[in-house]
Amino acid sequence: MLTPNVTRRSLILGGGAALLAAPALIRGQGTGFMRDPFALGVASGDPAEDGFVIWTRLAPDPLDQHGGMTMAIAKVGWEVASDPNFRTIVAKGEALARPEFAHSVHVEVEGLGPMRDYWYRFTAGGAVSRIGHARTTIAPGKPLDRLRFGTFGCQRWQDGLYTAAQGLAAADLDFLFHYGDFIYEYGGGTIVRPGLPTTPAVRASAGQECYSLDDYRIRYAQEMADPDLQALLAATPMYVTMDDHEVENNWAGLIDQENDPQEVFAFRRACAFQAWYEHMPVRKAQFPLPGAVRVHRSRGFGDLVQANFLDTRQFRTDQPCGDNYQPLCAGQDDPNATMMSVDEEAWLDRNLMDHGARWTLIGQQVMMMPIDRRQANEPQRIENMDSWAGYNVARKRMIARLAKRGDAIVVTGDEHKHYAGNLLSTDGAKAAAEFVGTSLSSGGDGSDPKPGVTPPVLTHNPELAFYCYRRGYLVCDVTRNTWRTDFMVVDQVSKPGGAISKRASFAVEKGSPVLHAA
Ligand SMILES: [Fe+2]
Repeated sequence: MLTPNVTRRSLILGGGAALLAAPALIRGQGTGFMRDPFALGVASGDPAEDGFVIWTRLAPDPLDQHGGMTMAIAKVGWEVASDPNFRTIVAKGEALARPEFAHSVHVEVEGLGPMRDYWYRFTAGGAVSRIGHARTTIAPGKPLDRLRFGTFGCQRWQDGLYTAAQGLAAADLDFLFHYGDFIYEYGGGTIVRPGLPTTPAVRASAGQECYSLDDYRIRYAQEMADPDLQALLAATPMYVTMDDHEVENNWAGLIDQENDPQEVFAFRRACAFQAWYEHMPVRKAQFPLPGAVRVHRSRGFGDLVQANFLDTRQFRTDQPCGDNYQPLCAGQDDPNATMMSVDEEAWLDRNLMDHGARWTLIGQQVMMMPIDRRQANEPQRIENMDSWAGYNVARKRMIARLAKRGDAIVVTGDEHKHYAGNLLSTDGAKAAAEFVGTSLSSGGDGSDPKPGVTPPVLTHNPELAFYCYRRGYLVCDVTRNTWRTDFMVVDQVSKPGGAISKRASFAVEKGSPVLHAA
């Protein structure tokens, strides 16, 4: 007879007696599962010209503390094919799903051809995963005429459904860029926002606010089990970064929002980093080392795009002037304030100096345009201290870099709104374009226009060309002479069946950073 604890686990090993001996039997043996061990789906990431990472995590009971797995190593088979029916297998092998990493598997597939489509799947204990699709890139410098990619992020489970992911999945994109907030640390079935009434969540987060490794693991498991998100991650490879909510709202370096001692927050951050690694399709280079994880990385796409994915959270100094939206203050001009580490800035300088691609992509987290956030009845300028506006010296240094290139496009998240605008040099000249993508769900259904905000934000910020308070994502279509960004929206996330549409398109022509409606 099974104990209640054991029945939560879904491994079946030939009867109750075998269940009691599960740790010994699962190690390397062809055991079965009572439920699908691939309930969290599959994903691919960090594509290169010769391969990509393929990811899965064995979790037949996703919200169980251990995902329904016995605390032992399990073997996972994997294969990659050049056709969706797996007639031609081009790579295969076996990986170990270890309990230390929540039975996740990260396989770095190599030896594949450039700019080709591949399909992959996993097996474990007689179970077969869904089929994933990935596309390799092309080596820097090789001829490339077109690249299409999507950007998304800000997935607050409580705020709504991930209907917008259906549009991204159907778009047949070369890759995805995730700008952060893959999970939110908040727990429970209500939404609490400063200054606003508490409202019921569209769907409840599993558990309370995340602090421990198990908390973060369960939050990711709930997320990865979402059918829309799962279908998207199976369809398209992703370069994933992180922002604040993978750990805690508006953290900065080792400083959190609860004024905890830094050594205390360091434990919470380390738990969050480990769970991030376990659930994201990232390479070994992104394995969390004591105290840090390498989030920033670059990738060249032929002679067309040189991409830099930044980390603006882990090495930043604390937000000035009390954080959040504030009137202008002296702390914004602190010459020692940083958004990136010294090493990351030097890495970016090297990347920008060396490449001969047509376009430079900066994929990053928080808005670089220091826009005025005041609403209609507010007398003074208001800026967001958690964005680059709180770090003026670092921001100006960054914009000077981009102006020097003359071919840079900044792609951003965090705002839960769409924006299109130009980054200005200190002399007021347009230095680069910034496309800010809204959230997948954070903020709920939204509205378009947003009462009290849409006219003032455009009036007070002449560098802005577009603002939209809806949920959605961006699609960037890059050719040799034009970079076009489509602002996609979904009309509701509080109920199923939201309609996805293109709200606006803006473009930049090669040779001029000035964006225009397209
Ligand atoms: Fe967010």
